[in-house]
Amino acid sequence: MAGAPLIIDCDPGVDDAIAILLALGSPELDVRAVTTVAGNRSLDSVTHNALGLLALAGRADVPVFRGAARGLLPRNVRFSFAHGDDGLGGYEVLPFAASAGEAHAADAIADIVMAEPPGTVTLAAIGPLTNVALAFAKVPALAGRLKRLAIMGGAVGVPGNITPVAEFNFMHDAVAAEIVLSSGAAIDLFDLNLTRRVVVTDELLAALEAGGGHVALAAAAMLRAYAQRDLAIHDPCVIADLLAPGLFGRTARRIAVDYRPGPTDAQSIVDMDPASTRPLVNLVDEVEAPAVLSLLAERITRLG
Ligand code: BDR
Ligand code: CA
Repeated sequence: MAGAPLIIDCDPGVDDAIAILLALGSPELDVRAVTTVAGNRSLDSVTHNALGLLALAGRADVPVFRGAARGLLPRNVRFSFAHGDDGLGGYEVLPFAASAGEAHAADAIADIVMAEPPGTVTLAAIGPLTNVALAFAKVPALAGRLKRLAIMGGAVGVPGNITPVAEFNFMHDAVAAEIVLSSGAAIDLFDLNLTRRVVVTDELLAALEAGGGHVALAAAAMLRAYAQRDLAIHDPCVIADLLAPGLFGRTARRIAVDYRPGPTDAQSIVDMDPASTRPLVNLVDEVEAPAVLSLLAERITRLG
């Protein structure tokens, strides 16, 4: 049986890399494209990393499309330190022949989704939401056409990781985050409250290294470097939920994102107003972390 169609919009990034490998190692999913957005590193750097990761996994057939080089509003945000200078924790991708496609990521996302029957394509958005917001602005029917929009972003009721209240992806483009969360798409939101519970463990590293294949060893090397600065395996949670939704629990909430400059910039706020017309999203708030880590190790080890 063919896998379920999936687009991954990302900024690799070590945890993005692990998310991509998890998807590629899972026959339930058919990765139709990887689209890139500036976030953890520059657009050039994350696009290079996406192409290199696909080559590493022997999947250079998956097209890559470059997207936004910065957020919708000029912002004074820095790249992430957690992923090292190259974005992959010092892991050097081997030379590869493929290059990114001509289309902008926002157009590629819209074209792929609109070419398939409604409610069939899932979009996993694990970087700043600029490409997704642009795609929704260009093709308003797109939000309602997705099967699911699974997002890593936000810090709902917990401290942020880039300011006291803001999470990295939302901070990079808070306007885009607000556009997307109010779009009415069928959203599952994986915020820091959830993803901080899924952390790099010695058992995970040992399982990947015991697999012994070149992909699993590369994943372990990236995670070892990343774990010096951030233990949470944020982005792979999004993919794990597509594979094993029973490992996660969720609550319907209305979530707003503040995009006013100042101390509350990019804060995620639960809208409790009973008269609110803001669409509900699924806030993912429970996880069986050990089972997610086992799934990760098993699927990535399969890639070799
Ligand atoms: C998010 O920010 C990035 O550094 C990670 O890749 C993840 O998508 C966590 O806040
Ligand atoms: Ca990311």
